[in-house]
Amino acid sequence: MCGIVGYIGNRNALPIVVEALKRLEYRGYDSSGCALIHCGELQVYKKEGKIIELERALPEPNLCSGTAAIAHTRWATHGEATELNAHPQVDCTGKLALVHNGIIENYKLLKEQLIELGHSFRSDTDTEVLAHLIEQYKGTGLPLVDAVREALRRVEGTYGLVVLHQDEPDQLVAVRKGSPLVIGIGDHEHFLASDVHAIMIHTKRVIYLEDDEICEVRRDNFEITNTHRETVHPRISVVDWDISAIEKGDYKHFMLKEIFEQPTTVGNAFRGRIDDRNGVARLGGLNLSPLELSQVRQIHLIACGTSFHAALIGKYMIEDMARIPVHAEYASEYHYRNPVVPEGTLVFVISQSGETADTLAALREAKSKGARVLGITNVVGSTIARESDGGSYIHAGSEIGVASTKAFTSQVTILFLLAVLLGRQRTFSTASGLQYIAELEQIPAKIERILKQNDRLREIAASIKDCPNALYLGRGINYPVGLEGALKLKEISYIHAEGYPAAEMKHGPIALIDEAMPVIAIATRDPLYQKIQANLQEVRSRKARLITIATEGDSDLQSLSEHVIHIPDTLPNLQPLLSVIPLQLLAYHVADLKGFNVDQPRNLAKSVTVE
Ligand code: G6P
Repeated sequence: MCGIVGYIGNRNALPIVVEALKRLEYRGYDSSGCALIHCGELQVYKKEGKIIELERALPEPNLCSGTAAIAHTRWATHGEATELNAHPQVDCTGKLALVHNGIIENYKLLKEQLIELGHSFRSDTDTEVLAHLIEQYKGTGLPLVDAVREALRRVEGTYGLVVLHQDEPDQLVAVRKGSPLVIGIGDHEHFLASDVHAIMIHTKRVIYLEDDEICEVRRDNFEITNTHRETVHPRISVVDWDISAIEKGDYKHFMLKEIFEQPTTVGNAFRGRIDDRNGVARLGGLNLSPLELSQVRQIHLIACGTSFHAALIGKYMIEDMARIPVHAEYASEYHYRNPVVPEGTLVFVISQSGETADTLAALREAKSKGARVLGITNVVGSTIARESDGGSYIHAGSEIGVASTKAFTSQVTILFLLAVLLGRQRTFSTASGLQYIAELEQIPAKIERILKQNDRLREIAASIKDCPNALYLGRGINYPVGLEGALKLKEISYIHAEGYPAAEMKHGPIALIDEAMPVIAIATRDPLYQKIQANLQEVRSRKARLITIATEGDSDLQSLSEHVIHIPDTLPNLQPLLSVIPLQLLAYHVADLKGFNVDQPRNLAKSVTVE
């Protein structure tokens, strides 16, 4: 959602925080702002729109230099995306500025109380109450850190917060509850960010702040305390991501780069995790003994967005290969409906960012019911990774494009390994395990072959880019792939798209079909091939423009289709890793041909840290 950065050191702070902010722009991009202490006075600059607008609005460097600054890029929750609502928010004295990520749930009550005390509000945000509340305590003579601590005792909600005060210019105060904050340790300088990407070019030594910890960050040192004012001794982590992961390189967009990285990232997800003597997968991070694994009676796979589609695919794989009942559900539904979590249930929460608020809430709900909860995440040190009882990192490297691509295929790869692990214990032999693994090892080269059709997919994209609607059909394990294809298209090209099980189409969506409707069907050679072929005949009889994803060598679908995209053959359970690739490229090219900002689609955020 929103992105936060802060800097304190010897260098001119403003260019550092603005540069860092640009690396967070993918998290939120409707307005931005920064604050610094220049010649002993707090200065605040804010602008509606992209960070480039803020940069343009900044005065000459000699008029806005200083060695401590904070900055923010916003994804609006409370209050429209206007300059007044942008952060930093300031108090009445104009001496205190703060940036905030999260939601203050009791802000209305606090606002009323603060107005009664004489505070005047300028914005519609929930955040502004924090500025006035801290001002109120600071006014009693407390040092800034204690004023922040006292103020937050009255606050209900979530926050990653960084505060700067003109009267204590040698420090930033940072605090976290439910919204990530990381401290970067430099040489006589420190950084703060809601996401490690922002500061990776400056330092790889970081501390992930825990909930309810408050940190006074100074040029040469920092001190972390908890709500009881006890000193906390943090663990310093070293970020091992390559800087190139956060650069676009020769690609026009991060999304395209990330699509093309998939032969590597899928390989990274399974490398070192397969035992090709015994036909079994190794997922040591699950922290489960063979006995504990054999006692698993059912599995819940919980996630949001694209990660939820990976969960649905996981359900098909695990039920088929391990014969364990699997329940896949949206995290936002799961944690509010009082789910039944009987003994023997293993819960996996799947999240690229590891910070999605609903997924985190689902994790806590399942834990509170006694389940063992494991995480499948990409971001090392993320909240979900830290709060789960174990899990697997997908090792996809930094994913910047808001529309998830490589994280999805890596999640599916891990779920396949899980199906192999559980299946080898329960249902199949070494020989079958070896076959699954051998097929998995061929997937990266097969993805590579599909990527070679990029130019052709751009041509197909051009032929559908002006359609207002699109329908995606699949059956069995390719049904969730259809959901994912439709999601990709609507996220970045704003074309209304629906994914449907091909046979279910007859019960509704068929009414929408006419000669203008593109229908994108995944009809690979698998046990349901004959069935979907019949469904496609029904579509074609209504004159839809059919685009089919078919298995190499299949010419039967040619006569039905306006375009056929051939992909290599593989085992049915591995098919999603291949069939999703052309759908990602199709969505990418449609959006790019329409001239949209592919990496930062309107209204969306990379990581949704509010419920
Ligand atoms: C947002 C992103 C999606 C992502 C979803 C879940 O909606 O725009 O791309 O799939 O959040 O995110 P997570 O980090 O939990 O996988």
